[in-house]
Amino acid sequence: MKVLGIDIGGSAFKGAPVETKTGRLLAERHRVEVDAPCPTAQGLAAVKEIVRHFNWTGPIGIGFPGIILGNRIGAVGNLGSNWENKDGVALFSRASGCKVTLFNDADCAGLAEMKFGAGRGEQGSVLMLTFGTGIGSALFYRGQLFPRVELGHVPWCGKPFERYASAAVRQRLDLSWSQWAKRVNVYLAVMERVFSPELIIIGGGVSKKSEKWFKYLKTRARVIPAQMYNDAGIVGAALVCERPGDDARR
Ligand code: BGC
Repeated sequence: MKVLGIDIGGSAFKGAPVETKTGRLLAERHRVEVDAPCPTAQGLAAVKEIVRHFNWTGPIGIGFPGIILGNRIGAVGNLGSNWENKDGVALFSRASGCKVTLFNDADCAGLAEMKFGAGRGEQGSVLMLTFGTGIGSALFYRGQLFPRVELGHVPWCGKPFERYASAAVRQRLDLSWSQWAKRVNVYLAVMERVFSPELIIIGGGVSKKSEKWFKYLKTRARVIPAQMYNDAGIVGAALVCERPGDDARR
């Protein structure tokens, strides 16, 4: 099945057509920068622009950086609270003129890595973490996703962990790789104490630079970079169109 996968991030919307059988992008990704936080109208225009770029009329899968309950957007991390409590499927369908499926961005990335990337064939407990503007998370056991876990929002010193250890924090505070990795170690220690994952897959832009900072990580679990790098979000968003509907309705 050919699906337009769109990955919504804190600073840009990225999309590409995907062949869901192989997980391959069928064209080079198209990226549209947005403001942070992103006004709703600007985000919808970005989706429209990606659809126009590929002349797309088929199904669209969107990975969204917040809690997705059925068609509805719940709490949103960094994109802006203006997106909350809206029917996201209706908004994006209207903007694109196409059939839209919506799912959490990190869950999408995790699904792609489990099917085509670093987690292929892994049967134990796997924690996928994406480090970007925030920290996204996806939890798997025996290959099955436990959806909507928001582990970047576990509190640390009165704030969500993502405000202490995301990749954006490294840039904002101009931390060296080893200084930032120390913070990531604090976070991973909490994750390990709580979940005892056998494998931790690290995604997001920083996964491309694993040689700079993985050497500082101290975990019991194996830690490996996402194999699909930043494409995981796009590919996973496309895969979600083939999953049975999410039954969360609140
Ligand atoms: C959001 C998550 C999202 C993550 C990565 C967090 O702020 O709450 O839903 O997966 O950022 O984008």
